[in-house]
Formats: sequence, structure tokens, C-alpha cells
Amino acid sequence: MTGLREKFAEAFDIGVSLGGRLPDDYTPAEIALIDAQFSVVTPENCMKPNAIQPREGEFTFAQADALVAFAAAHNKRMTGHCLVWHEVCPAWFFLDGEAPASRELVLARMRTHIHTLAGRYRGHLMGWDVVNEALDDDDGYLRDTAWRRAIGDDYLVQAYRLAREADPDCDLYYNDYGNEMPAKREKTLRLLAELADAGIAVPAVGIQGHWVLDQVPFDEIDAAITTFAATGRRVMITELDLSILPWGKSAGNPYPDGCPAEILARQAEQYAALFRLFLRHRDVITRVAFWNPHDGRSWLNSFPYNRTNYPLLFDRQCQPKPAYAAVMAV
Ligand code: XIL
Repeated sequence: MTGLREKFAEAFDIGVSLGGRLPDDYTPAEIALIDAQFSVVTPENCMKPNAIQPREGEFTFAQADALVAFAAAHNKRMTGHCLVWHEVCPAWFFLDGEAPASRELVLARMRTHIHTLAGRYRGHLMGWDVVNEALDDDDGYLRDTAWRRAIGDDYLVQAYRLAREADPDCDLYYNDYGNEMPAKREKTLRLLAELADAGIAVPAVGIQGHWVLDQVPFDEIDAAITTFAATGRRVMITELDLSILPWGKSAGNPYPDGCPAEILARQAEQYAALFRLFLRHRDVITRVAFWNPHDGRSWLNSFPYNRTNYPLLFDRQCQPKPAYAAVMAV
């Protein structure tokens, strides 16, 4: 069977994020789906700070090691996600006893974390999402995070330098959501320029791509790709999904037993339109990665609250949805 990864092989890689433990937590049908459809794997959670170093000096690599071994055994390349993130970062990083830790102590911990993690997987990863989601959603420039409060605005430069030291050969990425929209686009350019001034090359920008049915900002996505490419950088769509429910808690759980055909048809059209757009930018897009392999595994069934969602190209039985056929037909 020709899958996504073969269909788009000449244009860009097709990626997927995988959670849980590979291969033990996955059915044969899921493994077959991964084999057929995707060429690059992103760890969904197992390389995040809380998973890797829940307590100071206590590193837990079992799940990440299993994923790296799975990827090698199944001919997939891998990207690293993520070294520094304001979410799921244990409080101990920023404490000295009961008191806030000094800049020096937090920097030392950042160094240990990045060197240990990126050093362990050196040679196995195409690149790292070094700092994830560092830009402010509102009027500010940088997001107010514990890292920034402890170290200062140069915490990004520090993190990228440490990542470069730990793995001299992999790419260093900047990954965020909503950075296709004008405000965060500008902040992204500013951040990339500041990193460049500090001697740090970030050759590719990740646009996460958590979009909502009927609200996909096609023109902004198009403009963002053009804008980032104009700086000589590549673009990756890193966490693609197309939720059939709006953000927020208002929507309840309208489709617990199945998604209406009419919605699946609209989703198919919008996915196809997205891939047409991506193909137009195939010279600068290097990877289009889905966040999870099929609807049953999607994080959007539990974020931001529990409900049944249908955001991906494959259903809960790993069968192709109308959106899959539409994407394969572009
Ligand atoms: C999500 C995972 O999918 C969930 O399992 C976890 O509970 C929270 O994080 N942006 C990112 C990803 O960069 O790391 C997030 O992943 C989704 C949003």
C-alpha cells in the first residue's frame, strides 16, 4: 500500500508523534499504520523535562530509549522534543530549598539537563526543539516563564548554546503555536534575529499546526511560510491536527459515538486544502508531522477536557477517513 510518506516523499517528510511505550503499548494494526504512513517520529511526551528528570539527578530514560530503538528498527528518523518548555517542568528546577534558586544554580541545572538528554541521543536525532513556545500570546515579546524569571531574557541563548555543545551535529529548531499569525510571526523573526546575533543558527522554524475545523487561517499560514522562508530558513509543520471541536470548554461532548459524515467531509476538504498549500511551498517545507497517529490516540480527546474528538486522518480502528483519501488525491 502506498501511504502518505511515499506519496509525499519527493516534497517533504511525513512525521508523527508517538506517546506511550513502543512497541508494547501498540497493537499490530497501529504498528502497521506507523510503518506504512510515517517517516519521522517525534516523542510525544517521553523526552519532556518531567519525564526525563522528575527529581534532580534522577534521570528516567526507559521510554525514550525504547522509542529511539523502535524508530531505528522501523527505519524512521527522529526529532527531539523538547529541551526547555514552561509546561511540565518540575518545580525543583527553580528552587533552592524553599527559596527561589539563583540564576547560577538554574543555569547549572539547565546545563546538566540539556547535556545529559541531548548528549544521550546525540547522533540519533535530526534536530531538537530546543525551547518550545517561548513567545507571549499577548502584547509582550517573551512569555513569562519560570526559566525566564530565574535566568533572565538570555535563557534562550543559553539553552541553544548548551544544545549545540551537547549535540554539535543536529539542527536546532524553534517551535511554537499560533506563530502563523502576524503578531507571533513578528516575535519569531525578532527571536531568530537575536539568536543569530548571539551566533546561534536556527535553520528551521516549527509551526505546530493545531488548527480547528472551519477556522484554519490558510492565508496566514501561507504568509508565515513565505516570511520564514524569506530569512533563508526552512519550515516544518510539527504538530498537525484539525479538531472538529472548538477550543475551550463550551463544546461539551457532542459526538461520543461517531463523527457525522458531513463533518468528516468538511474536514477532508480542509485537510486537502492544507496539503495543497504545503505542496506549493515544498521547496522550503521539510516535514509535515501529525500530532498522534490516529483519532483514538489524539491528545485532543483529553485536552483541554475529556471528550471524543476526530482530528486526524485515521479513525480509531486505524482505518483511513475521508480526509486521508482527500490528502492522497491532492
Ligand atoms: C501534549 C501531549 O500530546 C499530551 O499528551 C500532554 O499531556 C501535553 O502535551 N504543544 C506541544 C506538545 O508542543 O508537546 C503538546 O503535547 C501539545 C501542544
